[in-house]
Amino acid sequence: MLTKNYPRVALSHTPTPLECLTNLSDHLGGPRIWAKRDDCTGLAMGGNKARQLEFYIGDAVSKGADTVLTTGATQSNHVRMTVAAARKLGLEVEVQLEKRVDGRQPAYYESGNPFLIKLMGAKIHFYPEGEDEDGADAAMDARADELRAEGKKPYVIPLSGSHTPYGSLGYVKAAEELVQQFAKQSLEISGIALASGSATTHAGLVAGMKALDSGIPVYGLCIRRGQDAQRVRVLEKAQKVAEMIGHEGAVSDTDVLLDDSMLAPGYGQLNDNCLEAMKLAAFHEGILLDPTYTGKSMAGLIDMIRKGRFTKGQDVVYLHTGGTPALFGYPELVE
Ligand SMILES: Cc1ncc(COP(=O)(O)O)c(C=O)c1O
Repeated sequence: MLTKNYPRVALSHTPTPLECLTNLSDHLGGPRIWAKRDDCTGLAMGGNKARQLEFYIGDAVSKGADTVLTTGATQSNHVRMTVAAARKLGLEVEVQLEKRVDGRQPAYYESGNPFLIKLMGAKIHFYPEGEDEDGADAAMDARADELRAEGKKPYVIPLSGSHTPYGSLGYVKAAEELVQQFAKQSLEISGIALASGSATTHAGLVAGMKALDSGIPVYGLCIRRGQDAQRVRVLEKAQKVAEMIGHEGAVSDTDVLLDDSMLAPGYGQLNDNCLEAMKLAAFHEGILLDPTYTGKSMAGLIDMIRKGRFTKGQDVVYLHTGGTPALFGYPELVE
């Protein structure tokens, strides 16, 4: 096991299913699409963050923390699941919600993730900027200092790209899980597509697949920033993760595959391709995608299929990273 040297607490329902989206694949007339159902990881409605939190919280517990702090957008799935993880382990939790998405209806600020965060009783702080990662992290660090002065032992899960990516270890572990599932079902996979945001998931999967010598390319669909900025971030993180798991030098820049064609008009803002992907997945498979992450990553995969990047006879994997609760923040999606 590549991650055996790192403390981990079991929080996720894994292995998650790998299921064939037969109807959607037939509709598109291209490769067989397999969904890796990481929307089914449990932990207050599932998502990729459950695997990441196993290692962040593992690190927190090993350091004797009694309070967890983190930051994210108003509809952050990461924040929701961090609160759930802390609650499950009996830790105190404080979160910071950033004003990252403009022009949304009141439901965006009240329903879905913010509703669940309140239900689980987290202490909530607000941060006025949405595109100031370093500032948001600094505000959390300042709050952690206050808690320390009160005698608490806080642990901050930061947002910015520069921190030690313990969370990525969750996706190194997922790479091992996937490779086993592929072998068991005798699948030769031509590529894996996923949403690339903080890059914690993307970097972990790339490092894991490279360390396992799987030869499977991982395609990141940008949902937060353009591909040039994202490339630097994914590469740095994936190389750091490879080093952490004893495979220094395993990841090079050619392993970082990115596509930002579905990002516009920006983070958390819908576009026609995303809406089409959400409707196709819902209609053909009863699978729910969200407007910020999974709708855009599926839209990117569909676009690659339509452009002939993947064709009939091939098998591709779509990593469903969750995000379902955020749907309730966008009631305008259906009339
Ligand atoms: C549903 C969902 N998918 C994908 C991502 C992107 O994952 P990462 O931040 O690890 O790049 C997130 C991050 O918040 C998410 O909530």
